[in-house]
Amino acid sequence: MNSQALIDTAAALVADDKGLLAMDESTPTCNKRFAVYGIPQNEDYRRAYRELLITTPGLSTYISGAILYDETILQNTQDGTSMITALTAAGIIPGIKVDTGAPALAGHPGEQVSAGLDGLRERLADYARLGARFAKWRAKFVVKADLPSHGCIEANAHALARYAALSQEAGMVPIVEPEVLMDGDHSLARCRTVTETVQHAVFAQLRSQRVLLEGIILKPNMVLPGTDSAESVTTDMIAEATIGALLRTVPAAVAGVAFLSGGQTPERATVRLNAMHVRYAACLPWALTFSFSRALQQPVLEIWRGAADNAQAAQRALLQRALCNHAARRGTYVSTTEPS
Ligand code: 13P
Repeated sequence: MNSQALIDTAAALVADDKGLLAMDESTPTCNKRFAVYGIPQNEDYRRAYRELLITTPGLSTYISGAILYDETILQNTQDGTSMITALTAAGIIPGIKVDTGAPALAGHPGEQVSAGLDGLRERLADYARLGARFAKWRAKFVVKADLPSHGCIEANAHALARYAALSQEAGMVPIVEPEVLMDGDHSLARCRTVTETVQHAVFAQLRSQRVLLEGIILKPNMVLPGTDSAESVTTDMIAEATIGALLRTVPAAVAGVAFLSGGQTPERATVRLNAMHVRYAACLPWALTFSFSRALQQPVLEIWRGAADNAQAAQRALLQRALCNHAARRGTYVSTTEPS
């Protein structure tokens, strides 16, 4: 393992106030998003859509890395260039999602454990050969009165750490993604407690598996009340709860923290990231950025709708969201940065 190379890649992923474009939706998830806009759900359209994203002119001004899905990493752009080559040429670091989904966790009704450790060493070596320089694994945690269970937290934290160690062995920076889900009627305080418990368990396992913290990026949820909660919270309360939870649990050695968007609207995700920088920039020990999928892509899909004629306008929408989040990283986002 070349520690310095891992540290350099992790640093490059969070440098210059840039963030990551998560475009690693599995085929069923991508199809589900296409279905909302009546876009045909087949490989040709998925390929065309991913090409549209990665060939957006100027994207690397705001985006440091893109997380691909297995189908995409093996595809080419229309002119025959591999997606990885196109990204690299554009100045964007290619990465890959490597968990294979989250089947039910035995003995734990309503909970899942992310899969994909079997054969992972070989898959990582293949992806590294193709040119991927980082790898992402997502674990998800359902919040209910009695969930997540200790068993679910422990199983997922252990799997995250095993994957992170294998990633680093393969020379790829792990993007460690423990996601406390927004679904449910839980309060902001409950989300904070669960997030702290989960992060604590994840870092205990990372330590136990000898993962080099300077060579990882943490991809956490923001701390939010559940989507069915009636609680009214301000942006400042969210910023305080999120940064408070992370400062208590995430070691300063970690290279960067890059939020998932989790179903927040694009504007809300940006406003909240901005507020964290406005209030806490001076006391953050790690780079704090974004690794959004829905909060970057939703306006793109809305405009594209599968029509080649809409591609340029859709790319402009992606660039605009990337610019807004880049501004949020500096704490300089104002809603007038938004398109009218
Ligand atoms: P969202 O930003 O839509 O939550 O997605 C994050 C992610 O990791 C997708 O793979």
